[in-house]
Amino acid sequence: MALFKTVTTPFTNQPTMPAEPLSPVLPEKPPFQGGRPTATLIQNGTIVTVEGTQKADLLVIGETIAALSKKFNIKGLPPNTKVLDATGCYVFPGGIDPHTHMEMPFMGTQSSDDFEAGTRAALIGGTTTILDFAMQDANHSLLETLAQWESKAQKAVCDYGFHMAVTHFDPATSPLEMATLVKDRGITSFKVFMAYKQALMVGDDALLAILDEATKHRATVLAHCEHGDMIDYLVQKAKSQGRLTADYHAKTRPTLVEAEATGRFTDLAYLTNANIYIVHLSCKDALDRVRQAMARGQQLNVETCIQYLLLSDALYEQETPFDAAKWVFSPPLRAYEDQVALWQGVKQGLIKTVATDHCPFCMSQKAMGQDDFSLIPNGMPGVENRFELLYSEGVEAGKITLEEFVALTSTNAAKIFGMHPKKGTLTVGADADMVVFNPNVKHQIFAATHHMNCDYSAFEGWPVTGKVQTVLRRGEWVVHEGQCVVARGSGNFLARTVTNA
Ligand code: URP
Ligand code: ZN
Ligand code: ZN
Repeated sequence: MALFKTVTTPFTNQPTMPAEPLSPVLPEKPPFQGGRPTATLIQNGTIVTVEGTQKADLLVIGETIAALSKKFNIKGLPPNTKVLDATGCYVFPGGIDPHTHMEMPFMGTQSSDDFEAGTRAALIGGTTTILDFAMQDANHSLLETLAQWESKAQKAVCDYGFHMAVTHFDPATSPLEMATLVKDRGITSFKVFMAYKQALMVGDDALLAILDEATKHRATVLAHCEHGDMIDYLVQKAKSQGRLTADYHAKTRPTLVEAEATGRFTDLAYLTNANIYIVHLSCKDALDRVRQAMARGQQLNVETCIQYLLLSDALYEQETPFDAAKWVFSPPLRAYEDQVALWQGVKQGLIKTVATDHCPFCMSQKAMGQDDFSLIPNGMPGVENRFELLYSEGVEAGKITLEEFVALTSTNAAKIFGMHPKKGTLTVGADADMVVFNPNVKHQIFAATHHMNCDYSAFEGWPVTGKVQTVLRRGEWVVHEGQCVVARGSGNFLARTVTNA
């Protein structure tokens, strides 16, 4: 049964749920084999990049895009060229999700998607590259942390890079390690947490040191902006009053908490002249702090996530109160007015990327906080849904253009994080990462049919217009008509460069 409960908004006319899920149409053809042909010709599609939209054919040879043309003469193509008829479909650059947490140890457990399952789900949903967070713990150096994440990601099936999360700054070793990571290891972005006190949070002294060090190497610093001490104060207060239900997660993380940290982060970056990127911005108050920073000429990049654009804090009021745990993540869901502000921020170009913060936990894991909201592991699944949801609720709903869709799902992340033009566009010489997308197929999201290793969906029953039909990852047909055939470990690590984007 479709369980989605939401407020009706002018942005979304859902959910008018059919009683039963749409039944899948089973093709009467041999199963999809996958693999990388010598060459692929994508014919009759509509190619979309940030520069514009055109009807054209696209030729892939090996792992890269070889040519674009109004029409190719088949006779001139390499022997055994595989032809894909994309009539009626868009051809988009493969999605890039710049914010995921695969098999991340967190809050006494580990996110439930490993690099294989999570990146397979990513491919099925049209995302061919992820940037995941390598999380330093108290006992390991940055280079040791990188080795741990390199080892976990051996089984990835989409391409991937890492941001390095610095959770303690040691003046004796961290500067040297940061320099090595940027210059020799292709890790050109560092992450700080201003929340999760006693766990991941760094104080302002460490934050300043990290910003200063990153500036020396033109690396980017990403921040989770919430004021950890404010949260701790509110959580302890709620608990002392016996308020322990899941909805108190959101009540103890109001927008003020996020706005304060966002403003402080931009101030510290202004002082140190650092390149910064604000992850998962969720509310108008925080966006206003970004506007203030920009008004003084500061350049910075902002990400939101698909859940903040589509879902509201009404979801914390559930008939079965612990169901609210499905949406326990940080920052929490906000008011409808915040969704409006975020869409405006997107449209104004203030928000450059729409990510997922994919960090799934099954309900058995969420149950760790059954009697105390502060113990519910923070995070939700989303990597499979972002691309189709943003198309449906953004392009199809008339809120963004096709070109903006490509910028938000792929190109901007590639530019900001030093992967462009290898990734994030459809140009000759680029990696042949692309999504053939049928805008006319209507379907719904269900946990029972998604591929993420999570027993619930944050978007259960959500109606979607538009579907990923075929995905090429570096020229290899990895997804076709709902099937994914790809070898474990075939994803490549992306060594990134510093950038001025
Ligand atoms: O709740 C969240 N967002 N979990 C993942 C870790 C983080 O804060 O990004
Ligand atoms: Zn975060
Ligand atoms: Zn995150």
